[in-house]
Amino acid sequence: MIRRLVHRRAWLPRRVRIAVALVCGALALLGLAGPGTQGSEGAAATKLDAAEGPVGSSTGAPPDQGLVREGRRLFVDNCSSCHGQFARGIPDRGPSLYGAGAQSADFYLRTGRMPLPEPEAQPSRKEPVLTEGQIRALVAYVATLGGPPIPEVDIAEGDIAQGQSLFAENCSACHQILARGGIVTRGVVPDLLGEVTPLDVAEAVDIGPYVMPTFPWLSDEQVNSIARYVEYADDPIDAGGWGIGHLGPIPEGMVTWLLALSALILATRLIGERTAP
Ligand code: HEC
Ligand code: HEC
Repeated sequence: MIRRLVHRRAWLPRRVRIAVALVCGALALLGLAGPGTQGSEGAAATKLDAAEGPVGSSTGAPPDQGLVREGRRLFVDNCSSCHGQFARGIPDRGPSLYGAGAQSADFYLRTGRMPLPEPEAQPSRKEPVLTEGQIRALVAYVATLGGPPIPEVDIAEGDIAQGQSLFAENCSACHQILARGGIVTRGVVPDLLGEVTPLDVAEAVDIGPYVMPTFPWLSDEQVNSIARYVEYADDPIDAGGWGIGHLGPIPEGMVTWLLALSALILATRLIGERTAP
């Protein structure tokens, strides 16, 4: 009798062990079914009623000559070491700014990417060293070299569900479906949360900063939707359950597997019997 007790690990009555095993098995199955690839099915829902007004402007007005002169002066002091005295570019230091336009100057300056500390560095977002007034002047100067104006974007015109599917198709391979960022071969992909504005999205899509491609096939309406989805991704609705920090499908899958595996191992240990040596 004593030997049987030892072998059978009778620290739990048989019925309790079966019940526990069944619960663990059910948990394991649930775990394998998973929390869904994303907690973002709710994206289709329209929680986002924040209808920010149009941001940015494309001034068709003639340039203010005083502002352009000020911009030219700032350019020579801060930018010409890489972009050249006349903004025609210097090989291995900085590209020509002919055709970059107000859009690109606005994006690179407002997000603190320019002036770059050194020519090989990845231009990353930081607090701008230039004041708003200086940025306006530099943008006015770069605009005189030709190129696209600052775009209009209105997320109230956008549709989150359309934005999500466009983002999944065009952007998530680098930025991750909930815009948490990541790494690609030649650079760091930033997250698009917090201070990233709808205007930043519209500009980036058209410029393709650093290793990011451009998306000439996206219409203004589609860009509004993407920008709206990016705002939504700041604070997504986790309709599918626990969001696991919105780290994306791979960590979510890992957690699923680990939970399911632990439950399965526990279940096997509880039902299993050790054979006497
Ligand atoms: C091939 C990878 C790749 C793809 C695809 C891509 N991006 Fe990017 N994106 C980047 C990288 C890298 C940067 C950082 C660029 C830099 O250093 O200036 C970036 C920067 C940005 C920024 C600026 C963020 C900031 O912090 O200032 C926005 C906005 C953006 N991307 C939006 C998008 C959108 C919207 C799409 C899809 C339409 C997209 N990206 C597709 C790689 C990518
Ligand atoms: C240390 C060198 C360096 C300095 C200084 C610098 N830049 Fe740049 N700039 C670069 C490089 C390199 C790139 C290309 C970045 C990229 O691929 O995203 C660039 C890109 C740009 C672009 C985007 C061009 C395009 O084709 O869209 C603009 C606009 C720009 N710089 C403006 C400025 C302004 C204005 C200043 C001065 C306030 C400045 N830069 C200072 C090196 C520099």
